[in-house]
This record gives sequence, C-alpha cells and structure tokens, in this order.
Amino acid sequence: MRKIRMSLTLVTFGALALTALAAFALNISGATAQSPDIQTQLCCQDRWNPEWMQRDMWGPGRMGPGMRHRMARHWTFMHQGIPALYRGARNPLSPNAETIGEGRALYQKNCASCHGPTGMGDGEAANSLNPSPALLAYLIQRPMAVDEYMLWSISDGGAAIGTAMPAFKDVLNKDEIWKIVTYMRAGFPDGQTK
Ligand code: HEC
Repeated sequence: MRKIRMSLTLVTFGALALTALAAFALNISGATAQSPDIQTQLCCQDRWNPEWMQRDMWGPGRMGPGMRHRMARHWTFMHQGIPALYRGARNPLSPNAETIGEGRALYQKNCASCHGPTGMGDGEAANSLNPSPALLAYLIQRPMAVDEYMLWSISDGGAAIGTAMPAFKDVLNKDEIWKIVTYMRAGFPDGQTK
C-alpha cells in the first residue's frame, strides 16, 4: 500500500515536472517565433555607434558647449574642408633655435593668456571662457593638426563656430603664424619663462 502511494506521488511529481518543462520549452520557441524584431535589431544595428551612444555620448543633445564647439571645428575640417586660401598650406620654416625662439616670443605674447604658457589650456583668461581654450600641447600631437589645419584655426579664429578664439589673420602675418606652429611642434620649450 505504501509502495503504491509512493509511486503515485512520484508519477504526479514527474507529470508536474514534465508540464513545467514543456511550458518552458514552449516559451522559448514562442520567443524565437516572435524574434524577427530582435533578429533585425541584432543584425542591423550599428555596433560601433549604437543608438544609446549617439543619444548619450555623441549626440549634440547632452553634449556640453565645450565639446560641441570642438566637435564643430573638427567636423568642419574633416567634412566641409577649409577655405581655399589655406588648403594644402605647408609650414616652410625649419625648426631651429631662431625660428623656435621667435615662435616662443610670439606665442607667449599672443596665445598664452588663454592657452597657457605650455599649451595646457590654463592661461589667466581660460577660466572665464566657455568653450575653454584648447589644450594645444595635446592637439599638436594629433593627426588632425596638420599645417593647413593650424593655419586655418589661427587665421580665422572661432567666429564661425561661436567661440572666443580670436582671428589672427590681421594681427600676425603668415610667417609669424608659422613660427608659432614651429614652436608648438617643438613641444613648447621654455614655456614657463615668459
Ligand atoms: C581670448 C583667448 C584666446 C587667445 C588669445 C587665443 N586662443 Fe586659441 N582658442 C581659444 C578658444 C576658446 C579655443 C577653443 C574653441 C575653438 O576651437 O575655437 C581656441 C582654439 C584654438 C585652436 C583650435 C584647437 C582645436 O581643438 O582644434 C588653435 C589651433 C588655437 N586656438 C591656437 C591659438 C594660437 C596659436 C593663438 C595665438 C596666436 C591663440 N589660439 C590665441 C581661445 C584663445
């Protein structure tokens, strides 16, 4: 009698377990049956720039003004190109004690108040500016900082993108701008001694 009851209980549990398993399996197949959506999403989403990333990090929506303006400058250069006047320009000066020395004097006089004596964006005026002055010590090492990019940014300033970067085309001649670029490429030597 006890044996029979035990085997009955076992059978009941077995049946229950099977039902649960079947329900689980059905659920899974149900999910795969609905999955064209999920599949499409998985296959077609841009893995390098998914929707959340565009919204949270790179979309202009939540980007601070500093980032937005820098992006505008870099974007303009990469996609629209720069005025023909500057296109393809190359710095004709070679880096030697004289050009670097003159570049240093010009940089400290015209640029350091915002960009800092060694290009770290920490000049006296820097804190009051938004977007803040670029960290030229880093920019100059980036692939984007080719001669024509430097000449364009320094000559035309930030009026077109609404920043405080002044236009120097009427203040400095090309030769002087190239000296400053030479100084920056040399790594801002003796930047601390003004
Ligand atoms: C009144 C402050 C101020 C002075 C002076 C100034 N700048 Fe700027 N500069 C800025 C600000 C702010 C930015 C960032 C916004 C922008 O890119 O326009 C900037 C951006 C730049 C950029 C582009 C940086 C990038 O990320 O691409 C270059 C290059 C530059 N400055 C070089 C110079 C040089 C060289 C001088 C001196 C001849 C100079 N600046 C003088 C404020 C200044």
